[in-house]
Amino acid sequence: MFSIARTVVRPRLVNSFTRAAASIHTLPGLDYSYDALEPHISGEIMSLHHTKHHQTYVTGLNAAEEAYAKASGPKEKIKLQAALKFNGGGHINHSLFWKNLAPTSAGGGEIPSGALKEALERDFGSVDAFKNKMNTATAAIQGSGWGWLGYSPTTSKLEIVTTPNQDPLLSHVPIIGIDIWEHAFYLQYKNVKPDYLKAIWNVINFREAEARFLEAAKQSA
Ligand SMILES: [Fe+2]
Repeated sequence: MFSIARTVVRPRLVNSFTRAAASIHTLPGLDYSYDALEPHISGEIMSLHHTKHHQTYVTGLNAAEEAYAKASGPKEKIKLQAALKFNGGGHINHSLFWKNLAPTSAGGGEIPSGALKEALERDFGSVDAFKNKMNTATAAIQGSGWGWLGYSPTTSKLEIVTTPNQDPLLSHVPIIGIDIWEHAFYLQYKNVKPDYLKAIWNVINFREAEARFLEAAKQSA
C-alpha cells in the first residue's frame, strides 16, 4: 500500500514545483476575430495590439516574476517592482480591455435597459453625458494611460478615473477601460484622439460592463 501511495504522490509534487518555477501567465484569446470590430477599430490594430503589445507585457511579467522568485534579498526584489507593476498592469488592463469590446453584430455599442443604464443616468444625468465626460477625461491624459468607468466601493457610485502608463485601477472596480496608448489607435486615427474615442463606443460591450457592475455592487453591499 505504501509503495503505491508514494508512486502517486511523488510525481504530483515534482509537477507542482516545476509549474511554480515556470512561466504561468499566458496571452488570453479573444472572443471575436481581429477584423470583427471594423470599421471602428481596424483588424491591423487589433492583431498587433493583441499579439505584439499584450504578448510583450505577458512575457515581461513572467520574466519579472521569475527574477523575483530568484532574488536573493530585499534590494534585488525592490529593483523589480517597476517591471512587475508595468508588465503586470499591462497584462491586467489588456485582459479587461478585450472583454469590454464586442462587434456591433454581437451587440457592441448597445446598452441594454437595466441596472448599468439606470446607474449611469443616476450618476451622470444620461448615457451620452457619461460618454462625453469620459472621453474628455481620457483625451486629457498626458502621455499614455487608461480612462476608466469605475465603481467606487466607498461612495457606491460609478465614477470616471484615469491612470497613467499601465497602472491598473486599484481605487475602483473597473467597469469599462479605454486604452489611450498610441498603439491602440494611431495606425487608423493618427493623432486625432477624439475620433478614436468617439468611435470606440460603437464596440463597447455594455453587457460585460453591466455584469462587472452588478458583481461590484454585490461585493460592496
Ligand atoms: Fe494597449
